[in-house]
Amino acid sequence: MCNQKKMSALALEIDLHKNSARQGPGSPEDTLKALELIGISKKKGLKLADIGCGSGGQTITLAQNIDGHITAVDLVSDFLEELNEKSKLFKVDEKIKTLEESMNHLPFKKESFDIIWSEGAIYNIGFETGIKKWREYLKPGGYLSVSEITWITNTRPKEIEDYWRVECPEISTASNNIKILEDNGYALRGYFCLKEDSWITNYYEHIEARFSSFLQRHKHSESSREIVKAYKAEIELYRRFKEYFSYGFYIAKRDK
Ligand SMILES: C[S@@+](CC[C@H](N)C(=O)[O-])C[C@H]1O[C@@H](n2cnc3c(N)ncnc32)[C@H](O)[C@@H]1O
Repeated sequence: MCNQKKMSALALEIDLHKNSARQGPGSPEDTLKALELIGISKKKGLKLADIGCGSGGQTITLAQNIDGHITAVDLVSDFLEELNEKSKLFKVDEKIKTLEESMNHLPFKKESFDIIWSEGAIYNIGFETGIKKWREYLKPGGYLSVSEITWITNTRPKEIEDYWRVECPEISTASNNIKILEDNGYALRGYFCLKEDSWITNYYEHIEARFSSFLQRHKHSESSREIVKAYKAEIELYRRFKEYFSYGFYIAKRDK
């Protein structure tokens, strides 16, 4: 309960993640590494869509490193407001337009973007569905750059397999995801997986530091305790099983 009203689990999740640099694993170094793998990143007047941008950790890095314009899309207005404030602070507001919309119903014209970017968000639509749908918004020869939870070994302990099969049923190996890209009109230009710091230092440690104030704000309601418990379990599993999974960053070119 919060202010006498029951907050939905989604509203609580948003509250836990508000005012943080990012809402998922990643880092400016990862964003720049992916950008470097895109051969056209030095071109002038690029048009880029950042889908599931959250509060824009990667959007700001992109705006600081491309000559062009970014349409940053997310479902959550609170995150977009933060991104708008940050883009003014970093003086890149003329390069970024935020759009509150679902990645399932993007209002984009066909072949309108040079680059489609999405860090840690494509799972909301599904990797295969997302790369298929978003391809039509890319200009021929345009680039897709997405990070997605990925198995980094071919076998793994049942405990972690069972966990991710429930949380993210589409989780797969890089070789399988690359095949999905190749089967759907993309040519792979690069792949790397995120290092431990991108999970622990840049993401989990920030969430852990918020647990106490979050619980206090919500008067230790059952729903808020459940959310903290679920994150603690996820973080513990990452620490125990990080040899078996990470976020894979896939950089691919629309092939025609
Ligand atoms: C794990 S966060 C990643 C955010 C950001 N890219 C980052 O790495 O910090 C996933 C983001 O996807 C957004 N999201 C979830 N479902 C969505 C949908 N259907 N359409 C657009 N955004 C969505 C969430 O609000 C959240 O900001």
